[in-house]
Amino acid sequence: MRTITTVAGMTTARDAATGTVGLVPTMGFLHEGHLSLVRSARAACDTVIVSIFVNPAQFGQDEDLGRYPRDEERDLALLRDEGADIVFMPPPEEVYPPGFDDWVELRGPIAERLEGEHRPGHFRGVATVVARLFRVVRPHRACFGEKDAQQLRVIRRLTRDLGLSVDVVGLPIVREPDGLAMSSRNVYLTPDGRARALSLSRALAEAERLVSEGERDASNIRESARRTLVAAGVGIDYVSVAGEETLEELETIDRPALLLLAARVGATRLIDNTMLAP
Ligand code: PAF
Repeated sequence: MRTITTVAGMTTARDAATGTVGLVPTMGFLHEGHLSLVRSARAACDTVIVSIFVNPAQFGQDEDLGRYPRDEERDLALLRDEGADIVFMPPPEEVYPPGFDDWVELRGPIAERLEGEHRPGHFRGVATVVARLFRVVRPHRACFGEKDAQQLRVIRRLTRDLGLSVDVVGLPIVREPDGLAMSSRNVYLTPDGRARALSLSRALAEAERLVSEGERDASNIRESARRTLVAAGVGIDYVSVAGEETLEELETIDRPALLLLAARVGATRLIDNTMLAP
């Protein structure tokens, strides 16, 4: 496994790669969710490249860029065990060279609602860094987690709009045995916060149950999820029942939908989601 820190080095290594190339973009502090993406890329591609880059452009001013968890040594050991071929770990000035000012900004509900509304500038940062990674690494396939459901749709849209020939693959959310969706940010949770954070997966399971029993009124689903979160004492950023493709809010679950939650447990912001199939 090689580690590469420059765009020039990554370009040379990519030129030399034969067969299909799979990319797993990450911000490091890897967990089972990331490793499931690496395994999927490993199973499908001849060369597996994992990027580790804590992208400053996708953090708001009051967010956790400064304290975002990092453990480079452990990440590299995990990736070696999974059989990654290349780890691309550029410093910020390689990704955003002096004078960099070309941003990818998507419009419409896919980018502007939900996370787009609560984290202004977030998707501009995500879309820009992913477009840049796609241009440098030129992957055939790129793997992302469904936990960041809106991010996945933003990346699919930008890939289509920029005419990039990358197969963007979304992979299932990986959960702890008690249901908590894996996230690098879970490390911030206190034991009490962690217990309260389980209300997110509980709210999703309850919604799945209601829909399986025939509930189609989206406001009843939103209300049920809100009640579960409020009872656990977590702060709600949003509870949304949205069309799976467009992310427009639904009144009736008459097509594949997503229930998307964003909540604050103390100072920790968590997101989670599930598919609601009518
Ligand atoms: O999901 C993440 O870890 C990041 O948003 C990504 C896709 C690596 C872009 O920085």
